[in-house]
This record gives sequence, C-alpha cells and structure tokens, in this order.
Amino acid sequence: YYFPNSFKYLILGGGVAAGYAAREFVKQGVKAGEVGIISEESVAPYERPALSKGYLLPKNAARLPQFHVCVGSGGERLDRSWYEKNGIELILNTKIVKAALESKTLTSEDGTNFKFGTLIIATGSKGLKLRDFGVKGDEAKNVLCLRDIKDADQIVEAMKAKKNGKAVVVGGGYNGLEVGAALRLNNLSVTMVYPDPWCLPRLFTKEIAEFYERYYTSKGIRIMKGTSVIDLESDSNKEVKRVKLKNGRELEADIVIVGIGARPATGLFQGQLELNKGGIKTDGLFKTSMKDVYAIGDIACFPMKMYNEMRRVEHVDHARKSAMKAVEGIMGKGKGKVVEEYDYLPYFYSRVFDLSWQFYGDNVGETTVMFGDRNPAAKKPKFGCYWIKDGKLMGIFLEGGSAEENKAIKELAWLQPKVGDGKELKDNGVSFAFEL
Ligand code: FDA
Ligand code: NAD
Repeated sequence: YYFPNSFKYLILGGGVAAGYAAREFVKQGVKAGEVGIISEESVAPYERPALSKGYLLPKNAARLPQFHVCVGSGGERLDRSWYEKNGIELILNTKIVKAALESKTLTSEDGTNFKFGTLIIATGSKGLKLRDFGVKGDEAKNVLCLRDIKDADQIVEAMKAKKNGKAVVVGGGYNGLEVGAALRLNNLSVTMVYPDPWCLPRLFTKEIAEFYERYYTSKGIRIMKGTSVIDLESDSNKEVKRVKLKNGRELEADIVIVGIGARPATGLFQGQLELNKGGIKTDGLFKTSMKDVYAIGDIACFPMKMYNEMRRVEHVDHARKSAMKAVEGIMGKGKGKVVEEYDYLPYFYSRVFDLSWQFYGDNVGETTVMFGDRNPAAKKPKFGCYWIKDGKLMGIFLEGGSAEENKAIKELAWLQPKVGDGKELKDNGVSFAFEL
C-alpha cells in the first residue's frame, strides 16, 4: 500500500466519525501511510456541533483550530500536524463522485482514482433544500443553510452585512432552534416558521416544546407554526426580500436560514450496498453487506441492541462511538481478537441561550411524566420528562441538570426500571434517578 493514492484503510468523509476513526486507528497501531481520509471539506475533521453554537456567538466565537476533533468529548485535539505526525494522509478539497466497490476504487471529481483494502464510509448527511419541497427561489444568495464550516462562514458574513436586520428561519428542528437563538443573540429580528404543531416534534412532547416556544418568545423571537414556505421572492440583486407562507402571510427578510432536515449521503452506493431506513445497513461492528466495506456515523443503519431494532442516529455521540467501534472491529479481526458488538444508548443534547438539555434513551411509550419548573421566566428553569412504555422507563429528558444529575439519568436510561404508572416519578422528579 505504499504507493500514491492507495491505502490499506481508506475513510471516505472528513467529519466527526472520520476524525474519531483516525484516532482509533492510531491507538490500535497502524503504520505510516496505511490510513487515508478523503474529504470534500478544506479543513481537518472538527466537532460539527460547534457550528450552530460557539461559532455563531457575537463575542468570543469559536474558530478553528480550537474545535477539531476530539475536543468535544474531552479528548486530544487533532489538528493537521497530528495527521502528519501519525502518517495519516488527509486528502482535503476532494469530492468523490464515483465509488466502484467491487474493484475497490473511488474516483474524485478531477478523475483521480483512490484504491483501498478496507473502506470506511463516513459521508454523513446532506441538508434538504426548499426546492426539494417544490419551493422556488432558494438559489438566492441570502438563502443559507448550515451543514459545514463554509455554510457557517456565510451565516457569519450575512449577520455582519445585514446588521440588526430581519431573519426568517425555516424549520423548527435542531438546526432551526439553535441557529434561531444564535441570530437573536446577534441582535437580528428573528421569525421562525415551521409546519409542525410544535418545535422539535422528533423528540419534544407538546409540554416540553411549550417551554422552549415561550422562552424563545420572551427573547423576542416570533414563532409562526403550523405553516410552511410556499415562495421566496427576490429583488433584482438576486436576494430574497419576501417569504410567502401557506397561511397567506408574507414576511420581510434580509436573511433566510433553512433547516428542514437532512438525509444520509448514500448516493454513491445505491445498487452496491444493502440499504435500510435510508442508510447503509450494517451489522453490530458496522460492516456493510460487502466484504471490507464499513459504514459509520449518520449514514449507518445498525442493530440497536437495547431496543432490538435497526436504527439510524443523526447525532454526534453515535458518530464518535460507531467510528471507534468499527475500527476496533477492523483491527481486532487482524489480531484474531473477539470484539463485542456495539451496544448503544441514544444520547442527544442541545444548548441555546442560557439553556441546556440532555436526553437519554428512547422517547416512546404510552405515558409521559413531566416534572420540575417550566416557567420560562425562572432564573434557572429546571424540568424534565420521563417516557414510560409497558410500565418500563424508556427515556429521560432533563433541562438545566447538573453534571451529576445528567450522569444519573443516563444510568437510569440504561437500567430501564419498572415504574408502573409513573406516580413515583412525578413525585420525585430527577431525584428518582438517585434512588436506584
Ligand atoms: P459528518 O456530516 O460530520 O461528516 C461527513 C463528511 O463527509 C463531511 O466532511 C463531508 O464533506 C464528507 N463527504 C460527504 N460526501 C462526500 C464525498 N462524496 N466526497 C468527499 N467527502 C464527502 N449532534 C449532536 O448530538 N449534538 C449537537 O449539538 C449537534 N449539533 C449539530 C450542529 C450542526 C450545524 C449540524 C449540521 C449537526 C449537528 N449535530 C449535532 C449532528 C452531528 O454533527 C452529526 O450527527 C455528525 O456530524 C455525524 O458525523 P458523520 O461523520 O457521520 O458526518
Ligand atoms: P431536523 O430533522 O432536526 O428538523 C427538521 C425540521 O424541519 C422539522 O422539525 C420541521 O419543523 C421542519 N420541516 C420539515 N419540512 C419542512 C418544510 N417543507 N418547510 C419548513 N419546515 C420543514 O433537521 P435539522 O434541524 O435541519 O438538522 C439537520 C441535521 O443536523 C439533523 O441530522 C440533526 O440531527 C442535526 N443537528 C443536530 C443538533 C443537535 O443534536 N443538537 C443540532 C443541529 C443539527
């Protein structure tokens, strides 16, 4: 493998999972030149969650190289010199446009071929566009999205150019909520538009969402829910000036930010690998349906042991852990070591304004139990929610928890104790997590 563009282990994608995989290869012991990373991005892997949080702050904003992986999980920071020092080839600004898996070859936009012994696919997700929903006009230069550092720089520039201007945020999911808060902190006037009856319905119950919607309103953010964008009207300068909604309203806009969901980037592998739930199907060590090909992070649809179901997870904790597990499996195989299959407890979190929440487990079940103080005007709001299915505790959400409390709810979600109708949970709130 010691000739150009040929690698014993090749990682496709240069995001979170790729960075954590690289660190694990080094930890497991690889020789210089054996590992390559190909990324469309122009920088070494970084902690993507920073883009919608620290990166957009009006003061002391985070900038690279501060948040290269693996600082987000308290690990060593892998800047470019780390890859050089460890003999890992970082092939940046390189988009792969063809993957011939049988012949173990990837081809880039400029026609360069890359050969691999083992391939790890870590292409992550691509954001949906309004045009995917038939809305015209989203090519305008002030219609922005947030997936990578280029996008984040465009948002920072736009916030400067449209100082104190009007922003319309389309989508009430993770990105919409985080970017909406950041725009407001930068003193833009913000209107959020989403079709759902409440924000982040993927996770939040009506009661949880109600708190955040009231909090956002108290910060001066206008929320228009239950409606969607049907048209974007540009001026002669090719900038959107008006956003038309299905409910007949029209919003003035200086910037439009679109965060309407993402899809796994599996396009290169259609017809070559078995797919499931929109992702690439893998086993418990992230091996795909083809020999020597692995898939990690957002694109992997893997057996989630805990819930006995194939799942995809679009969150950073899984990106990190799936990467480490896959490499452990690959390297263990060579050494004849038995590596245990991935056993994952879902963990999601967010931080906006002075708020911070964590969630562990599965948000399923016939009963939800709310506890704590959900007054958005409280000095430090602290509340949570338990999900109960068939008398078993399945998921826990906690806003404003301390480090010990967050640790305790994580353990509780692993344990899945029997809690009957949940009365005890209601009475004890988060203290219940310390009682077991
Ligand atoms: P990731 O998207 O990180 O990386 C994919 C890489 O592949 C990119 O470098 C891309 O350029 C490259 N690529 C794709 N196709 C290619 C091709 N054909 N050729 C070359 N390169 C190619 N999660 C969470 O738990 N908490 C949080 O707070 C946040 N916050 C957050 C903010 C923002 C703005 C985003 C967009 C996402 C989050 N997430 C999150 C989600 C989290 O960041 C996400 O789950 C992980 O980044 C997934 O890691 P992957 O490595 O799978 O994909
Ligand atoms: P999302 O799936 O969280 O939210 C999508 C939202 O889009 C929905 O809640 C809905 O309100 C809205 N929507 C759907 N169709 C629409 C339409 N036609 N018009 C208007 N709104 C529409 O996706 P996202 O917020 O775009 O985030 C993208 C990716 O980044 C996801 O994988 C997400 O997990 C990840 N992310 C995670 C975090 C975090 O974990 N804290 C933060 C930011 C981003």
